[in-house]
Amino acid sequence: MPKYAKNQPVGFKNAIERVAIVGAGGTIGSHIANALLETGKHNVTALSRKDSGTKLPEGVLVAPVDYDDEATIVAALKGQQFLIITMAPTAPRDTHSKLVRAAAKAGIPYVMPNGYAGDIGNIKLGEDTLLGPVAKADRVEIETLGMLWITVCCGFWYDYSLAGGDARFGFDFDKRSLTIYDDGNTKILTSTLSQVGRAVAKVLSLDELPEDENDKSLTVSTFLNKGVYFKSFVVSQNDMFESVKRVTGTTDADWTITHEDSKKRYEDGLAQVKLGNMAGFSKMLYARAFYPDDPNDFSAKAQNELLGLPDESLDESTKVGIDLVKELQLRVERMAA
Ligand SMILES: NC(=O)c1ccc[n+]([C@@H]2O[C@H](COP(=O)([O-])OP(=O)(O)OC[C@H]3O[C@@H](n4cnc5c(N)ncnc54)[C@H](OP(=O)(O)O)[C@@H]3O)[C@@H](O)[C@H]2O)c1
Repeated sequence: MPKYAKNQPVGFKNAIERVAIVGAGGTIGSHIANALLETGKHNVTALSRKDSGTKLPEGVLVAPVDYDDEATIVAALKGQQFLIITMAPTAPRDTHSKLVRAAAKAGIPYVMPNGYAGDIGNIKLGEDTLLGPVAKADRVEIETLGMLWITVCCGFWYDYSLAGGDARFGFDFDKRSLTIYDDGNTKILTSTLSQVGRAVAKVLSLDELPEDENDKSLTVSTFLNKGVYFKSFVVSQNDMFESVKRVTGTTDADWTITHEDSKKRYEDGLAQVKLGNMAGFSKMLYARAFYPDDPNDFSAKAQNELLGLPDESLDESTKVGIDLVKELQLRVERMAA
């Protein structure tokens, strides 16, 4: 049943003002939390483990939680209108479920589940990368508990993936080496961390509901139980390399280039994962995105214009990525996952 603002109880305010976020100090969560705060339209509450040492963005309210004590999660979520989950992929698998079950008990209507990956409509790619069925189960659980979801479909994070070592976009900035999949010309969809933050803030800053059946404007409810699709760049590794050379003032002669067959690299990574070696996961995941005959490019679905997202500079974003290298190297366990 479509919901309209005109049918809501007296006192209803047609806006998402109270947002809870898990991972507000994390890779993507910090960008989302900051972008939400910048709008001046949201109170942002960070759910953070009670013994966490994670630094949280200034301006968020902090709600310490203990994932082994559901009451603490329910208490933290009471009164919130929207729960955003950006949780480390290294967190125990059942943590997501603990959060959404607590959200249902707290009466939260909407959840943005973990994921922040490719097109949820591309079932084959989701199965090949092992991520699709997990994300689907998370969405089904949210629905089964009577809540609605909005999933972010942003492709790989451009700056993070550029900085994240050989197993991601193939760059090792310390060694000045680059592994190129196939001929390096396959283009994939990517989004910068800041574009993801902006996009989420844009969606949550819309009216929650249309006024009535004649109101066709974009609202939060437009996106419910759907993906929100957007991009920064549709680029190949060769495009990235040209940008890296411009930004670093280097030439081909400064780099050691290796070519690898993307399908072989995918199979090698998958074999490692099957043996319990999670170092193979990123290798498998990224190589699969660059398959020349089925690349991870869903730019036809991108809603940049609808959301009013800005165009960004590739070289500026490459610079942001290179500046991230050292920071990510400090996160040894997280980046190995
Ligand atoms: N598109 C891409 O290129 C891309 C790349 C990487 C990741 N992702 C996806 O994005 C999502 C978020 O990743 P991220 O890198 O932003 O996460 P992250 O920074 O590694 O972690 C986010 C937060 O998770 C919490 N956390 C860490 N370990 C935990 C544990 N053992 N149990 C419970 N909570 C724990 C921490 O919050 P507190 O300390 O405050 O509790 C942390 O700040 C994941 O779904 C991941 O798969 C996408």
